[in-house]
Amino acid sequence: MVPVVVLDDPDDALPLADALIAGGLCCAEVTLRTPAGQLAVAAMARRSELLLGVGTVLDPEQVDRSVADGAAFVVSPGFDDAVVERCQELGVPVLPGTVTATEIQRARRAGLGVVKFFPAETSGGLPALQALAAPFHGMRFVPTGGIGPANVGSYLRCPAVLAVGGSWMVPRDLVREHRWDEITRLSARAVQTVAECRAESVPAQVAAVAS
Ligand code: 3PG
Repeated sequence: MVPVVVLDDPDDALPLADALIAGGLCCAEVTLRTPAGQLAVAAMARRSELLLGVGTVLDPEQVDRSVADGAAFVVSPGFDDAVVERCQELGVPVLPGTVTATEIQRARRAGLGVVKFFPAETSGGLPALQALAAPFHGMRFVPTGGIGPANVGSYLRCPAVLAVGGSWMVPRDLVREHRWDEITRLSARAVQTVAECRAESVPAQVAAVAS
């Protein structure tokens, strides 16, 4: 489960990291959509409990700066050869956005086994993801965009989905208003959804192995 963070004030980075950790999340993506984003990467990466990634990465220079600031993975909205190559040179996992078979094929050609599926809901949602996954055996997807409590479970149950991202755990207004307890509550609920989906999938996997 990957909360997608958009910060307006870099001073909110550490309390936000603590709120996510308190909710049981162990991963987050800080986007570079705001000027505060880059500073927030450096601040949140100090919390060793979080696997901290950087999102909205559009060029190799942002890769360099974010990795130097402690980012453990890189996310971009689309597929960009220069960004992917720079991440591979640095040995940092990269999730380029893909939404067509052509883009997934390019990612595969670049040696990637995981891609972001973005924007998920407006690109056909889970049925589109499943149709695209079918010809690319072994490729895993991280859908983001338009996902929330109502539909996250259906994505998580899809075997081609490695993780799900979204901003619903960290609404921008709650961050601005410093409502950390509410963010912790939303995070804990998301973590609980993952646990419920896992509990469902284990008996199904055991039955599949036994049959
Ligand atoms: C992203 O940046 O990955 C998505 O825009 C998050 O989308 P959401 O705000 O619809 O969850």
